[in-house]
Amino acid sequence: MRFPAEPFRIKVVEPLRRVSREERERLIAAAGLNIFGVPADSIYVDLLTDSGTSAMSDRQWAGLMVGDESYAGSRNFYAFERTVRAIFGYRHVIPTHQGRVAENLLFSSVLKRGDIVPNNIHFDTTRANVEHQGAEAVDLVIDEGLDPVADHPFKGNLDPAKLEALLAAKRDRVPLVMLTITNNSGGGQPVSLANAREVSAVCRRHGVPLVFDACRFAENCWFVQQREPGQADRAVAEIARELFALGDGCTMSAKKDGLVNIGGFLALEDAGWAEKVTNLLILIEGFPTYGGLAGRDLEAMAQGLTEVLDEDYLAFRIGQVAELGRRLDEAGVPIVKPVGGHAVYIDARRMLPHLPQALYPGQALVVALYRDYGIRAVEVGSLMFGHPDPVTGEMVFPKLELVRLAVPRRVYTTEHMRYVAESVIELNRRRERLRGLRITHEAPVLRHFTARLEEIADAVPAPRAAAGGAAAERASGGAVPTPRRHPCP
Ligand code: F0G
Repeated sequence: MRFPAEPFRIKVVEPLRRVSREERERLIAAAGLNIFGVPADSIYVDLLTDSGTSAMSDRQWAGLMVGDESYAGSRNFYAFERTVRAIFGYRHVIPTHQGRVAENLLFSSVLKRGDIVPNNIHFDTTRANVEHQGAEAVDLVIDEGLDPVADHPFKGNLDPAKLEALLAAKRDRVPLVMLTITNNSGGGQPVSLANAREVSAVCRRHGVPLVFDACRFAENCWFVQQREPGQADRAVAEIARELFALGDGCTMSAKKDGLVNIGGFLALEDAGWAEKVTNLLILIEGFPTYGGLAGRDLEAMAQGLTEVLDEDYLAFRIGQVAELGRRLDEAGVPIVKPVGGHAVYIDARRMLPHLPQALYPGQALVVALYRDYGIRAVEVGSLMFGHPDPVTGEMVFPKLELVRLAVPRRVYTTEHMRYVAESVIELNRRRERLRGLRITHEAPVLRHFTARLEEIADAVPAPRAAAGGAAAERASGGAVPTPRRHPCP
């Protein structure tokens, strides 16, 4: 046993429906080869996201029964507020129904057109919310953070020299700096405490507030304890307290490390910012003691935030993800290394070198994983981020072409994960049979959610055998997609 077994036993089960390959083939075709369009009850292992997909504990479910649904002053709010203050240390606690609303409230309150927000890497909703204010989202992750094979224990670190240079030149346009822990868009990679100290020092020197995107804070602090010199003997909760004390607030999607299916918050030190945000909260979310949630949700969130700091849980959680990565790596599947906290990312460019990015290799892999094995993953590559250059009209592709296998918390057993590993390994063995795709329909913004695609017949050599090649037989002819207008949100 290379990692701890499950530190929980199972009290309630949710049956999974086994769906035949023929039915999956029909469903993914009907969805236009878009995995977002496949009904979830036709999926065996769903690794689309670790967000809002956690299994709640018996105590969280019990918490639902003590929900106080008073419009104002619910006792669950006070329990929630106490918990957030104890863990994060910030005075003003503002509940929201999920993370992007916390972002929207913050940016609507403190940004203006032409501003700049630096971050290690903005998550896509964070970037979209910055840009929605007419501001610019700038990613300043260390260079290793963009290299899928660079071996660095804290690939989520923000480069303090890049931040210093930006603030030296444009301080007036930067109302806040953000630090995303762990860095989801860079592979779920952690940020070290030493780096947070450096970033904080640069921010303090320039008088700029530092705000954490804290979605996966416990996982980040676990990595600090495990990997950072001098941190091994400290509790994860203690590391979290030191980390947050370096900043001025945080946005949080509790759908990740809050271990709940819905919920989020904003916690701020500054009373002025808190007041502006609260005024807007009342306008769009709800009264400050419920913020778009029910009292029972606040109770479950407070309990989840406490449970997520349990180190037996974290050892299992991070170990389960690492074990999936180890199995794939040992079998020669190209993955982003080191493995991050919540997901294993397959490097689709290296796995499918016969498919150029214009033929959406990441999405081709996602389609094959579902059709052949009933596993749902998500593409984080040319379908999600590809767009035409505004000047030349030529397609611009992202540097990384990844497929994310995000692992929900406390949901799948070690046997489920073995099934996933064996499926991906088998698919890797017959990878040259995967065909490229082209888009037949796309929305002007965030196209990956609703795009429809089809397979291209002549993009790869003819399949050698029938097994696994059925999809290829159906493929339709076609050429490389022509550039389409794809404005940013
Ligand atoms: N910040 C980060 C780093 C995230 O990963 C997410 C969500 C959000 C903010 C927004 O939170 O969904 O509660 O509004 N990430 C999910 C994912 C959707 O699949 O990675 P939300």
